[in-house]
Amino acid sequence: MTESIGLFYFSGTGNTQVVAELLAKAFEQHGAQVEIVRIEHVLQGRARFEPEAYDLVGIGHPIHCFDAPRIVYDFVDILPRAEKKRTFIFKTAGDFISVNNAGSKTAIKQLECKGYDVFYDRIICMPTNWTMKYSDEFSKQLCYVATAKTEHMAGEVLAGQERKLRINALLRWITKLTSRGEDLGARFFGMFLSIENKAICWPKTRPL
Ligand SMILES: Cc1cc2nc3c(=O)[nH]c(=O)nc-3n(C[C@H](O)[C@H](O)[C@H](O)COP(=O)(O)O)c2cc1C
Repeated sequence: MTESIGLFYFSGTGNTQVVAELLAKAFEQHGAQVEIVRIEHVLQGRARFEPEAYDLVGIGHPIHCFDAPRIVYDFVDILPRAEKKRTFIFKTAGDFISVNNAGSKTAIKQLECKGYDVFYDRIICMPTNWTMKYSDEFSKQLCYVATAKTEHMAGEVLAGQERKLRINALLRWITKLTSRGEDLGARFFGMFLSIENKAICWPKTRPL
């Protein structure tokens, strides 16, 4: 039977979008039908999310300060209730650190409360977009590995294999506090940004 898969993702700078496209290609090679949708398009009403339209739902996001970006929570908030909808998470990060395992925990809890059966949760490491730049050679290697990982992931997801990321309780609480701080800081910083003549300006009165 052909599986129908909806991939809903947010990507700030393109890494998660690349991974969503690689995943779609890998699923299609297994004969699945895939639809890729940006989360912001659902939030803006330009695309619809209908869980019954898919056998499997994938939700993708970058990790921001050991958590999902706020837009992912806004998306989860507006999702309709579902009846054990088979759901998987794919996320990108700029590092292999184990604290990243907390990355979707809160969003997964909220999804499960709404009836989504999140059976698979995986991180794909990509070139970082945070504070530094990896060498081109290392970035290239990460992209090669990402291709192999998405192919492996597609096989596991279609086989219904479970994959959960684990993190100890203390680290989980530390990551929660850190990501809450980052979220507040980002909102505060955002208050001083404006768009003038299509350039991002900061502070509001002085173009960069
Ligand atoms: C504000 C911010 C916070 C980040 N926090 C983390 C983090 O906690 N752990 C990590 O490994 N990478 C972190 N990153 C790196 C991104 O998760 C990574 O580069 C990701 O692939 C970017 O995906 P995108 O291009 O789809 O936005 C952060 C990036 C940003 C911009």
